[in-house]
Parts: sequence; C-alpha cells; structure tokens
Amino acid sequence: MVYMKLSLVTFVASAALASAACKGAVNTRQNWLDMKPTAQAQYIAGVKLLHTPNAQGVSKLDEIGWMHNFNFANAHQAPHTLAWHRVLLRQYETALQTVTNDSTLAIPYWDWSADSQNPGASKVLDTFGHDGDAKQNMCITDGAFANWAVKVDDNGNSAPAHCLSRDWSSASGGMNQLHSFIAPEVLAEAFKETEYDNFRQRVESVPHNHLHNAMAGDMGGGWSPTDSIFWLQEIKCLSNSSTLLGTYIQWYRRRTGSTPFVIVLLYNIWYAR
Ligand SMILES: *[C@@H]1O[C@H](CO)[C@@H](O)[C@H](O)[C@H]1NC(C)=O
Ligand SMILES: *[C@@H]1O[C@H](CO)[C@@H](O)[C@H](O)[C@H]1NC(C)=O
Repeated sequence: MVYMKLSLVTFVASAALASAACKGAVNTRQNWLDMKPTAQAQYIAGVKLLHTPNAQGVSKLDEIGWMHNFNFANAHQAPHTLAWHRVLLRQYETALQTVTNDSTLAIPYWDWSADSQNPGASKVLDTFGHDGDAKQNMCITDGAFANWAVKVDDNGNSAPAHCLSRDWSSASGGMNQLHSFIAPEVLAEAFKETEYDNFRQRVESVPHNHLHNAMAGDMGGGWSPTDSIFWLQEIKCLSNSSTLLGTYIQWYRRRTGSTPFVIVLLYNIWYAR
C-alpha cells in the first residue's frame, strides 16, 4: 500500500460537538531543533517506553501503527483526513504523557520545509535515523530507533517482526539521498487557501504524500506511525491549523446543513475513554 488516491467514507448527520471540549491545559508543540537536550531525551525515552511489548507481545506504538494501517484506505484522500489524523496524534500524545507521567509532554515537529532542499542532511535525522541499510533489508540501523522491529500483523495480533525500514536511496532514484521536499514558499501558498477541502488537498496530496513516498520503507504506507519520524512530520502538516476541525465542520455544514457524524463519534469515543 502506498499513499495514493483512495476511497471516501460516507458521513451521516449528528449534532453536538460541544461535549468534546478540551480537557486540561494546552501544551505547545515545539520544533524539535528548538528543544532543550533534556526535553529531547525525555521524548525519546517516552517513545522507547511506548515501544515496550505488553503481555500479548504488542507495544502501544505497534498498536497505534496497526490502527493507521487497518484504516489506511478510509483515513486518507478525503475531507476528514486531517481531522482523523488529529485524533490519532492526540492518542499517541496522550499515550506518551501516560508512560512518562508528564501531562505537559507535546509531540515535537520537524520543520521539513526548512530542510526541503537537502532533507537527508537534516539534523533531525541525527536522532531519528537516516536511510535503511541496503545490506540489511533497508532496516534502519542508526539513530535512537536503530534495529527496531514492528511486531504486529494486519489483524492487530502479535506477529513475527519485520524490521523498521526506510528506502530513500532506491525508492527515489538512487544517489543514496532523499530528493527535495516542498519548499516553505509552496507551503505558504497552500496556507492561503480559504476553502477547507482545497486546503486539505493541497497539504495532503503534495507535501504530505511526497514526504511519505520519498522516505519510503515503512514510511511509505500504512505502517508509517511505527517509524517515529511520522509523528514529527504529521504535526508539521497539521500545525498552524488549530481551528482546522472547526473549519472543516463549517465547510461540511455549508454543503450539507448537518454536522459530520464520524468526527463527532471519534472525538466522543476518545474523550469518553
Ligand atoms: C510513572 O509513575 C508510575 C507510578 O508511580 C511509576 O511506576 C513509573 O515508573 C513512572 N514512570 C516514569 C517514566 O517516571
Ligand atoms: C506556525 O506559525 C507561526 C507564526 O506564523 C510560526 O512561527 C511557526 O513556525 C509555524 N509553525 C509551523 C509548524 O510551521
């Protein structure tokens, strides 16, 4: 599976999003490169705790990766892509807060547009690892998550591991490097978009898909959340859009006169936990 044109789920009407009000304080998601070394170390330690297998042999991180893989077709290339991923990110963030006992922990972001002309040389990758090793099935062998494995199958059960991989040297036409990402100027143009779904398409179809497919390996498909660079990338895609859900709901209401039920449901399930 790769990031391409995919199907759309059907929405039905419902009313109240009011019950999904935010609980607790709002934490600021920071640029990874602006964080203090102690905060960076705490984040990495938290991710490692999330990667610890439970009694059934499946880690929380693998479970979240499975959720994304299982819903891959329905969670992309549709107006609700951004809202769906906001919920996923929040689940991951809350899981991290729980394992670290720190309710102020926030997922950092990689400002990959700042590194767009030579992303393979980004300092972010000094921690998050570079390309996979061609001699070892493209497994990631450097950084904080070197030699990690994904130990869950398509049904969410414990399974023989596949190594966490990236494959940007062969996937992007050789030269052992990642070719350029979308530049800040192009992204800034997308942020000027005033129609919700035009904006969503401009962010999802080009910058977002491109980064996944260029990094390839696990990042190129449904298992991408098991690669820890995923979270830093998605935050960048979704940041500066804190009212995005509201904008989406307004857009949907303008078209249909009702509130998108699936989003309300996702939020209610999540906040009711
Ligand atoms: C979090 O708190 C629990 C319960 O007090 C403790 O067992 C655990 O070691 C703590 N975890 C961290 C990362 O401090
Ligand atoms: C969001 O916008 C602010 C103000 O324009 C900017 O400083 C910040 O870097 C932006 N965040 C991201 C992740 O692009």
